[in-house]
Amino acid sequence: MKSVIVKAHPLRCEIIDTPIPQPGPDEVLIKVIFCASNPRDWKAPDHLIPGIEINQGNEMSGIVEAVGNNVYEFQKGDRVAAAHPMQTENGTYAEYATAPVNTCFLLPPNISFEEASTIPFALCTAAIGLYQRLKIPFPTSPESTQVQPPLIIYGGGSSIGAFTLKLAKFGRFEKVIVVCGSGRPYIESLGVATDFVDYRNCNVVSDLKAALGGKKCFHAVDAINDSNSFRHLSQVLAPEGSCISVYLPRLDYSDIPPWISVGITFFGTVHNENMDFAYALFRLVGRWIAEGKMSGHPYEVLPHGLESVERGLWMLKDGSVSAKKLIYKVSDTPGISPV
Ligand SMILES: NC(=O)c1ccc[n+]([C@@H]2O[C@H](COP(=O)([O-])OP(=O)(O)OC[C@H]3O[C@@H](n4cnc5c(N)ncnc54)[C@H](OP(=O)(O)O)[C@@H]3O)[C@@H](O)[C@H]2O)c1
Repeated sequence: MKSVIVKAHPLRCEIIDTPIPQPGPDEVLIKVIFCASNPRDWKAPDHLIPGIEINQGNEMSGIVEAVGNNVYEFQKGDRVAAAHPMQTENGTYAEYATAPVNTCFLLPPNISFEEASTIPFALCTAAIGLYQRLKIPFPTSPESTQVQPPLIIYGGGSSIGAFTLKLAKFGRFEKVIVVCGSGRPYIESLGVATDFVDYRNCNVVSDLKAALGGKKCFHAVDAINDSNSFRHLSQVLAPEGSCISVYLPRLDYSDIPPWISVGITFFGTVHNENMDFAYALFRLVGRWIAEGKMSGHPYEVLPHGLESVERGLWMLKDGSVSAKKLIYKVSDTPGISPV
């Protein structure tokens, strides 16, 4: 089968021929219909975990081809979406990829493979940030009906930010304040945000304070993690009991004052400490989609399938992608037979 290896310095991709992988005991083997890109797919080989040249894809939708010995919930032919464990072999920029059952869910009939491929990685990361790090009550908990203090989402146009907003819809907040730029129309369409702050203005801190209107804020999601975002948030969060959920585990957060706790949020935990949390979440996600309570992220299908992964990763690196996922139809790849 064809598989894409991501290389760094300079960022480039190579399509190789490799054997179809076998699922482990608790895994499914998926014929990938669509795979999606995430900024970490170029960052990992570039500077996070340099020197490792593997298929960096983590998100996919497709059809179950085979299941491992312990698998009883999925069978050959099922339509699914799934997240592949980060930094491991058999990634999703390929004709076939493996995924553990705890990060795989059945697709209800009302969602396309395209839309479904945008969900697994970003939604799960958003959920870990909101529920495990910020300790916002999970939608099934009785406390989820209680009104929470304001929530700030820095980077509402990012896929993590947008899925955090969609999850926030299951709870109740005094305010949901979103920092964003050109992604604002999409964020507005979700109908959750109460206030908007444009990061392209130089008054982000004063605009955030104005949006808070004197209310104390204890919870912030920083989906951007650039040199400004967590400094801005540090200046508006309450001086006691506050937490910022951050998504770049290796960054230096020492500029965040000691009275604010830093909730390092890492998708990779779904395959160890957050294994059961992810299992429960992925089962609910399928149902939420079926009930119209959850949807995918806007997306753009790049042409020529896997051949465009390199272009897509460069677009993410350049910062030219606003409020959408870049996805690839594997069967559009020259040399791969159409579905
Ligand atoms: N820890 C983990 O496991 C994990 C998992 C996934 C991703 N990540 C990291 O989390 C971050 C977000 O990933 P993603 O896939 O959600 O990103 P993404 O969808 O590619 O983010 C693109 C969006 O970022 C917004 N943006 C850019 N600069 C901004 C700023 N200064 N302030 C506010 N918004 C800004 C843009 O908003 P506008 O369109 O409004 O301009 C754009 O729509 C990345 O750094 C990624 O590497 C970590």
